[in-house]
Amino acid sequence: MGTSLAAAVSAALPGVRADLEDLVRIESVWADPDRHDAVRRSAEAVASLLTDAGFIDVEIVSAGGGPAVIGHHRAPAGAPTVLLYAHHDVQPEGDHDAWDSPPFQATERGERLYGRGAADDKAGIAAHLAAYRAHDGNPPVGVTVFVEGEEESGSPTLVSLLHKYRDRLSADVIVIADSTNWDVGVPALTVSLRGLVDCEVEVRTLSHAVHSGMWGGVAPDALTALCRLVATLHDEDGNVAVEGLHTCEVADLDYPDDRLRTDSGLLPGVHAIGSGPVVHRLWGKPAIAVIGIDAPAAGGASNTLVPSARAKISMRIAPGSDAAASLDALVTHLQAHVPWGAEIHIERGELGSAYAIDARGPAYDAARSAFREAWDGTEPVDIGVGGSIPFIAEFAKIFPDAAIVVTGVEDPDTRAHGINEGLHLAEFARVCLAEALLLSNLADTTDTARGQR
Ligand code: BES
Ligand code: MN
Repeated sequence: MGTSLAAAVSAALPGVRADLEDLVRIESVWADPDRHDAVRRSAEAVASLLTDAGFIDVEIVSAGGGPAVIGHHRAPAGAPTVLLYAHHDVQPEGDHDAWDSPPFQATERGERLYGRGAADDKAGIAAHLAAYRAHDGNPPVGVTVFVEGEEESGSPTLVSLLHKYRDRLSADVIVIADSTNWDVGVPALTVSLRGLVDCEVEVRTLSHAVHSGMWGGVAPDALTALCRLVATLHDEDGNVAVEGLHTCEVADLDYPDDRLRTDSGLLPGVHAIGSGPVVHRLWGKPAIAVIGIDAPAAGGASNTLVPSARAKISMRIAPGSDAAASLDALVTHLQAHVPWGAEIHIERGELGSAYAIDARGPAYDAARSAFREAWDGTEPVDIGVGGSIPFIAEFAKIFPDAAIVVTGVEDPDTRAHGINEGLHLAEFARVCLAEALLLSNLADTTDTARGQR
C-alpha cells in the first residue's frame, strides 16, 4: 500500500504544484477590504479544484465574513469521515521591494517555493488535493474538505459557519493542516497551541502638543509615558511581568542554541529573552510584544511634546489559560502601571483561545504511523507551537467526539507572515504522502468512528 501510494503521490505532485502556484497568484488578503474580491476569486479557484478533483456538493459558503469552501467525498459503508481543514486567505505581503521575488508569483529558489501563502496555508489546500488525487479520488474513508477564508483575520465568523453547516462538517477525525513540523526532516504532531489576545492602549498627557523647549522637563510627553508603561510588561530577564497569567508543562524537547538563533533570525550579540527551557518559553509561557505604535513618524518630527500615543499590544497565552481572564490581567497591569498620572484608554481586541490536545488513541496512532512512513522511518515528535489557531477550541466544543489532528507544511524557516515566506518542497512532498497514508490508516481504525477516538 505504502509503495504504491508513494508512487501515486509523486505522480500527483507536479499537478498539485501547478495548482498551488495558481492559488498563490490570487491576492487573497481578507484583512484588506480592497482585496475582498480577490478572496472571492480565491474561493472560486479552490471550489473548481475540489470539483475537478472529484469532490461532490462543492459549495462556497459564508456567514457574512470571508468565503469558505466545502466539498465532500461520501464515506464507504462503515468507514469514518475525515474533515480536512486549510485556509485560503493569507497575511498581507508587506513591502514588495523587500521580497527577493514578487510575493504573488510563486518562485522556486534552492529548496523552496517562495510566495505569500506558498506555505501558510495554500500548501495546506494543495496537500489535501494531493492526498485525494493519490487515492485516485476514491479514498477508503469519507472526506470533507473545509477551506476557510478569514483565518488570518482571527476567523470572526467561523463559529457561525460551524453551526450553520454543522451537519455537513461533522466528522470522526478533523485534520487541521495549518501548523509546522519540528525541523526539516523531522515530522511532528502538534499537541498544543498558545492563544492570542490583544489590545490597543492609548496614553494622553497633554490637551495639545506644545514646544518641547518651553515645557520639556516639566510637562511629560505621551510617547515617553507610553514607552515607560510598555517597559513594565517584562522583567529584567525579559519574562512577562503581568501577574495572574497561566503557564503549563510542555514536551521536553531540546532547542539547541545555534538552531534557535538561526531559525529565529536573532542578530549576533542579541540575547534570547525569558528564562527556562526554550520550548517552555515558546509553548508553555505567555509572551508579550508591542506590534505597532501610533506616534509622529521620526522623519519630520518637530520639537514638540507629543500629547497622545497609542500602542497595539499582543499577548500569547499558554494552553489552559482563559483568554478573557488573561486579557483582563493585561488590562489591569496597564492601568496600574501607567506613569505620571497619564490618562489611559484601552480597547480590548482579539480573544483567541489556546488549546492542548490529548493525542492518544487510534486517530493519533494512525497519524504518527503515517508520518513515520512518509519520513522514511524518522520517529515523529509531539510538539507544542507558540502560534495560535484559536478556532480549534471551537471545533472541539462543537464536535466533542472528533479527534483533532493538527499537522502542517511549515518548518522553522518557513517565515509565514514574513517577507520571503517559502515552502520547503521536499518536506511538502512528505506532508502530501503522510496525508495520503493517513487516509488509508484511518480506514483501518474503525474504532475511530464517533465516540471512540
Ligand atoms: N498557521 C498559523 C498558526 C501557526 C503558527 C501554527 C506557527 C504553527 C506555528 C496561523 O495561520 C496563524 O498565523 N494564526 C494567527 C492567529 C490569529 C490571526 C488569531 C497567529 O498565530 O497569529
Ligand atoms: Mn495558517
